[in-house]
Amino acid sequence: MKSRKEKYDELERKRDQALRPAGGDANEKQHKRGKRTARERIDALVDDGSFIELDQFAVHRSIAFGLEEKEFLGDGVVTGRALIDGRQVFLFSQDFTVLGGSLGEVFAEKICKVMDLALRTGSPMIGINDSGGARIQEGVVSLGGYAEIFWRNVQASGVIPQISLVAGPCAGGAVYSPAITDFIIMTEKIAQMFITGPEIIKTVTGEDVTFEELGGAVTHATKSGVAHLTASDEDQMVALAKSLLSFIPQNNLEDPPRYACDDDPAREVAALDGVVPDQPNKPYDMHDVIVPIMDNGEFFEISPLYAQNIITGFGRVNGRTVAIVGNQPQVLAGVLDIDSSIKAARFVRFCDAFNVPLVTFVDVPGFLPGTEQEYGGIIKHGAKLLYAFAEATVPKITIITRKAYGGAYDVMASKHIRADVNIAWPTAEIAVMGAEGAVRTIFRREISAAKDKDAKMQELIDEYTERFDNPYIAAERGYVDDVVEARHTRRVIAKSLDMLANKRVDRPKRKHGNIPL
Ligand code: HXC
Repeated sequence: MKSRKEKYDELERKRDQALRPAGGDANEKQHKRGKRTARERIDALVDDGSFIELDQFAVHRSIAFGLEEKEFLGDGVVTGRALIDGRQVFLFSQDFTVLGGSLGEVFAEKICKVMDLALRTGSPMIGINDSGGARIQEGVVSLGGYAEIFWRNVQASGVIPQISLVAGPCAGGAVYSPAITDFIIMTEKIAQMFITGPEIIKTVTGEDVTFEELGGAVTHATKSGVAHLTASDEDQMVALAKSLLSFIPQNNLEDPPRYACDDDPAREVAALDGVVPDQPNKPYDMHDVIVPIMDNGEFFEISPLYAQNIITGFGRVNGRTVAIVGNQPQVLAGVLDIDSSIKAARFVRFCDAFNVPLVTFVDVPGFLPGTEQEYGGIIKHGAKLLYAFAEATVPKITIITRKAYGGAYDVMASKHIRADVNIAWPTAEIAVMGAEGAVRTIFRREISAAKDKDAKMQELIDEYTERFDNPYIAAERGYVDDVVEARHTRRVIAKSLDMLANKRVDRPKRKHGNIPL
């Protein structure tokens, strides 16, 4: 019989073993790949001493392909609970040193356990991904494990924030767990996400593509929009994850944390009065509007490299988190297209699910014309953004800085789809379309009959501009609540947030709506 000391020694031995489950120089190899180990990643992310690990001694049950002779304490994933800036989160960190971080039955069970706890306790779930995918030796059991995780991702969606940090490979069907989560952050040059790798692509389509071009961080941040943020290294990834968490609540029943604010909520921003150029088609940078309005000029942009004709991100006004959606006149004149509609719609839906008020800055000439857009389904994709703004019941504040034309006027959180506070700057132009397009359409005959066509055209444009390119027709009808000098925008937002703090909306009972996917 073992003595008590021997039993305690056994525990210590097992703990040591669990810290280096793959043994040998596996951790060093991981470092050589430019990556931290699963535990180092958790240590870097969470508050000192706050991590409580679960299932450290779990081992696989497989008896196929030689696995019966191998035992890895923890089965290749570190799971548990921790605090980040004092707030509870649950997390898993896949351990690439154990069978390439591949996911088997027990590995999946461990992840499911922390996901269940996260949901039960209303805490954010953070997954650190670094894995070769389904553990090939375990066969269909690993596919079942993945599906159990996917199901939980869906149950948790809109209830607790879910964040994926992709810090290594994430391939095949494994990508669908991060894809369902709310935010994906990838490390540049190291993380990869793809459904099928370069070899299969070469066989099937004949295309030559590298792993990095196919599924690297930059690809997903710029081309596919799958990644919301990229990090130059794991330190930056940690910093981004912490900043992101600071803006969002623990769960859908709570508000985002409110911070003490040392920036006067009524602060005038004189420079804003000069941001919008006199010439209607001259671009300006909407960041120059957003950033100085935020507390201490801090703006945390989401998907900054994708569909740059729309800006999405978080900031604070008077210590309260706000979600910013803004057309960007500097890129494609701020037009709405497929990618920007999808990007903003998903962001709006996250914010609505998690009680983050929406502040929308509008300077939009309309939807992007062309067969590429029409064949690509701009109708259904543009409708996503319309749907998202219309269904959102969080406080909605809209500021029209310049153009609000056509259908895009309606879509961009207009009064008609139930924005709460709509204001316009004196430079706003709220109309069915720009003056030139309007005049060409409705006065085609008059212009072609005129002796001096250019002069006639200019005369009509001036008349249209005078009559329609202003905020006052909308203000006369209450479509905008007020016309306000740009410099007062921060104050108006702060006061509107106070006014709307207890906003409540009852929605009709239904299973769920049918957003045009
Ligand atoms: C079991 C795996 C594994 C896997 C890697 N390993 N992937 N073991 N199942 N899926 C093991 C390797 O055998 C190796 O073991 C160790 O992990 C490290 O792998 P390396 O290849 O040496 O590392 P590296 O060169 O960095 O390449 C990493 C990699 C590559 C790109 C991930 O390993 C790879 O392509 N793996 C297979 C990926 C794959 O096809 N997975 C299945 C996808 S299908 P030793 O003992 O030599 O150290 C899928 C479906 C999910 O995932 C469906 C969900 C619905």
